[in-house]
Amino acid sequence: MNDPVNVAITGAAGNIAYSAIFRIAAGEMLGPDQPINLKLIDIEPAMNSLKGVKFELEDCAFPLIKEITTTFDLDEGFENCEYALLIGAKPRLKGMERKDLLKDNGKIFKPQGIAIDRVANKNIKILVVGNPANTNALIAMHNAPSIDPKQFTSMMRLDHDRSLAQVANKFNTEISNIKKIIVWGNHSNTQVPDLSYCEVSGNNIKSIIEDKWYEDNFIPRIQKRGAEIIEARGLSSAASAANAAISHMRDWVSGNKDWLSIGQISNGNSFGISNDIMFSFPSVCNDGGFETIKDIVISDKLLNYIKITEDELIKERDSVLDLL
Ligand code: NAD
Ligand code: LMR
Repeated sequence: MNDPVNVAITGAAGNIAYSAIFRIAAGEMLGPDQPINLKLIDIEPAMNSLKGVKFELEDCAFPLIKEITTTFDLDEGFENCEYALLIGAKPRLKGMERKDLLKDNGKIFKPQGIAIDRVANKNIKILVVGNPANTNALIAMHNAPSIDPKQFTSMMRLDHDRSLAQVANKFNTEISNIKKIIVWGNHSNTQVPDLSYCEVSGNNIKSIIEDKWYEDNFIPRIQKRGAEIIEARGLSSAASAANAAISHMRDWVSGNKDWLSIGQISNGNSFGISNDIMFSFPSVCNDGGFETIKDIVISDKLLNYIKITEDELIKERDSVLDLL
């Protein structure tokens, strides 16, 4: 058994956290040999409900859980944390876009970045889930200058997994047969799911996918899947978001040679994307880190789509300059 690590989760009394925490406690994120001190953070009015989550965790008698802290104090919550899932933020309602949340949610991530900078382990790995996730991650990152910007990521894994599922459905095949999916850009309705390099059972599918299906069906389906779920459930995705968050952190920590989509700081990228935005690039995870895939040729048509998502991220950033 390893020594325990500290895992902070914000929005710990909310829906996504309720689907994530128990799986994390069971070892699905950091493995069966990694004991965990859970630091559950929410706002003060949610403390009673968070106490209930703690009671339930205790009742599960998870062997890996060594301590459970519930708090609204950010310094207490992030102290010596090696991992942080920043989930706590308002979800959108029917008819809204995720960027409409920036005004209310952006300001949550400045004090969290400051606290992480002040008290967290300097090697902390951070995943921002709360929407709009990319720009919220940028806000947290800017406020934590002592932490390497590459340790801040924003969640694109749900979009990536949604793309896998749609391709599996289209080709009537197993998820495990599909490789090299890419989702570029923002976790918003401008994101660019890209199948140019996608392989099904080892065969590139570019020449066999119909442009009409790709452009009129696949791209908008992925871009608007979150809204489709809100329309159906009356609530935004929770279990699938929690699953994506666990997969993102697990692969970052333990490695995964498959191509993954990771929202990361764009500085110094090889695709000509502007610096200082949190942009999703195709990446592989190894040795506790991740690297973007190089040598990808992007068609002119896709470059036009990518420009739209890049411009949106620049606009989002420029609307929160006071928080950076
Ligand atoms: P929820 O309303 O069920 O829970 C949010 C929780 O965050 C609440 O308990 C609330 O009290 C807490 N919270 C609010 N402000 C906080 C703060 N300053 N510090 C700590 N906690 C705070 O919402 P949810 O369904 O869990 O969704 C959370 C966020 O995740 C939303 O913004 C949603 O849009 C987003 N989301 C992102 C993705 C993605 O792929 N990136 C997917 C699904 C949902
Ligand atoms: C999702 O993609 O399901 C989440 O970002 C929630 C939303 O607002 O769409």
